[in-house]
Amino acid sequence: MIDIGRVRDDTPATARLAYLHNAGAALMPAPVVAALKGHIDLESEIGGYAAADQESERLDAVYGSVARLLNAAPDEIALMENATVAWQMAFYALPFCEGDRILTAEAEYAANYVAFLQVAKRTGATIDVVPSDASGELDAHALERMIDERVKLIAVTWVPTNGGLVNPAAAIGKIARAHGIPYLLDACQAVGQMEVDVDAIGCDMLSATGRKFLRGPRGTGFLYVRRALLQQLEPPMIDHFAAPWVARDAYRLRDDARRFETWENNYAARLGLGAAVDYALDIGMGPVEQRCRLLAGRLRDGLASIRGITIRDLGRAPGAIVSFTMEGYEADTIVRSAAASGITIGASDPSSTRIDAEHRALPPLVRASPHYYNTEAEIDRLIGHLAALASR
Ligand SMILES: Cc1ncc(COP(=O)(O)O)c(C=O)c1O
Repeated sequence: MIDIGRVRDDTPATARLAYLHNAGAALMPAPVVAALKGHIDLESEIGGYAAADQESERLDAVYGSVARLLNAAPDEIALMENATVAWQMAFYALPFCEGDRILTAEAEYAANYVAFLQVAKRTGATIDVVPSDASGELDAHALERMIDERVKLIAVTWVPTNGGLVNPAAAIGKIARAHGIPYLLDACQAVGQMEVDVDAIGCDMLSATGRKFLRGPRGTGFLYVRRALLQQLEPPMIDHFAAPWVARDAYRLRDDARRFETWENNYAARLGLGAAVDYALDIGMGPVEQRCRLLAGRLRDGLASIRGITIRDLGRAPGAIVSFTMEGYEADTIVRSAAASGITIGASDPSSTRIDAEHRALPPLVRASPHYYNTEAEIDRLIGHLAALASR
């Protein structure tokens, strides 16, 4: 059982806001803020280099924390400035040739898809979108049927940006493993919301951000690369940290996943990320996931009873992102009117998930994303606010 009082005490803004925008940027708990501020203070007192030296053990421990969160090893983790760069480092490290195929899902994130398009343009590789099943999840049987020797990558978003869909990450992993195809999983919106076990999923690479459900600082993210694949991947760009300059005409790539990093970093943010991961692990990802689903379910039930609202979430067991539209109101108008009542929610534009949005003819969606630290009363406040709008 999560001690809701304690986690809300750790999150002072919950006293003022019904904060339901955790898929955008969640509220950081006090230990995260303390880690950030503490390191900035230290840098201002003794200088950035000395501060990093003094905190080197805690900075190293961040790799261990992220590894524990994913059931990985610390040397399989690279700390990055966001999920996009983490994903790009993995994707652009893979070699593609004319005729190679990249398999992806309907609700793939825009940043990933434009990278597919660029590589397709450069190399002649093709992008094939695996159809969804009747529930809206990636159809694993269709994926299996699409596999041939030209498939060089399966790259899928686990929890897409635009709603509650949770794609069948482990079923995809089983197929990828059976055929020996590299599997890159965008777990940006899954991490911090649900249990993540890279072995159980069977992914080879996984990217995520710090600021969303993990409750870390902005400008943080990480990449996991399975050790067996690591040695085969040359990062698309390197510096002398990733690959020390060992002779006038030679560099040697690091053996660990830090070959995807560069020398300079925001150490305060890294310590904040580590504190966020430790905070989540301390609560336990099982209870976090359970409560996220409970609150999201309560919200969906409430929205279903409001005239003019259509819930847009897909999948058999949607997660903590609740997406909807409301007749007569633009998504932005709803977001602004909720904000004026102290309720923070967000919106998702069709261009973020163009294939899914075109397939379903979606307008911009309202996106409400509760977290374990929210209360039932906050969910009911949003439902009440929308019901009042609907009855105007
Ligand atoms: C599914 C998905 N992948 C990746 C990203 C990019 O994450 P970041 O902004 O940390 O680069 C987002 C951000 O919204 C996302 O929703």
